[in-house]
Amino acid sequence: MKLLFIMDPLARIQIAGDSTFALMLAAQERRHEIWFCEPRHLGLEHDDAMARAWPVTVRRIVGDHYLLGQQSSVPLSSCHAVFMRKDPPIDLDYYFATLLLERARGRTLIINDPRGLRECNEKLAILDYPHLCPPTIVTRETVRLRSFLVEQGGEMVVKPLDASGGFGVFHVRQGDTNTGAILEQATNLGRRWTMAQRYLPEVRSGDKRILLVDGEPLCAVLRVPAPDDARGNLHVGARAMPTKIEGRDLDIVAAVGPNLRAAGHFFVGLDVIGGHLTEINVTSPTGIMEANALYGEQYEARVILALERKIG
Ligand SMILES: Nc1ncnc2c1ncn2[C@@H]1O[C@H](COP(=O)(O)OP(=O)(O)O)[C@@H](O)[C@H]1O
Ligand SMILES: [Mg+2]
Repeated sequence: MKLLFIMDPLARIQIAGDSTFALMLAAQERRHEIWFCEPRHLGLEHDDAMARAWPVTVRRIVGDHYLLGQQSSVPLSSCHAVFMRKDPPIDLDYYFATLLLERARGRTLIINDPRGLRECNEKLAILDYPHLCPPTIVTRETVRLRSFLVEQGGEMVVKPLDASGGFGVFHVRQGDTNTGAILEQATNLGRRWTMAQRYLPEVRSGDKRILLVDGEPLCAVLRVPAPDDARGNLHVGARAMPTKIEGRDLDIVAAVGPNLRAAGHFFVGLDVIGGHLTEINVTSPTGIMEANALYGEQYEARVILALERKIG
């Protein structure tokens, strides 16, 4: 297969933990032809989506992990699949990139579906499953945030709609003298929406990342926050621990998986805290390398095998 990876600059990635890099290596190992470009290299020639892309060879050597061939114009329709793996922010530039990718619809498989990348906000998407997610509101009003805090028993989490990696996530406690300042910060003095959610105390034993491939569970990693942090994001010091997909996790996978598959979301990461769905990561989910380290597996190879089966 010919596979194009649209991603952040290859030179800057940390290969030890990068899921995209792992997927590239696995694809190369399976003798697929792999190409690389950044979103800024996308364009249209009439209604054909094109990329000024490079054929690339990758290897697991820090500081010398890739070798580019000759840059050329690649019609996306010439690729069997295109991985859109640019990390957030989901800004106007990202939005336009998805519209360019849209032009390749039906001519190649785009992972994940560009319509979904545009429309599925990772925080808001959980609200499609009200019985599986914690009590949640979205508002710009600090007065409403304060009343929600009381309704939820004096503890809540506020988080921006457009960030990732735990950035801007606050654990708010009634009576904390920083409450007012946190809510002003979270809403930028009423100029920005924030999501407020019941605080799930089970987060102390971990935020479970469940990776799904074409709607089916691939693996799961429990991310345990550092003792002095509320956030179970690996980038801010959470520890990866082994776990199982069990209990309410199975209900969540059963409810969400088929919808993701139908929407063309091939590779997705669900965040689940104490059996509650808190995030649906479609943009550029990670966790493969942590799962490999915990279970002695090579999950990226399974993703590529699933892709081979899908494309046939
Ligand atoms: N409802 C919640 N209750 C307790 N902790 C939460 C809740 N929502 C988020 N968190 C904490 O914040 C972290 C990041 O939240 P998340 O919604 O996954 O956003 P992102 O990972 O995109 O920053 C989680 O790992 C968890 O530690
Ligand atoms: Mg998360």
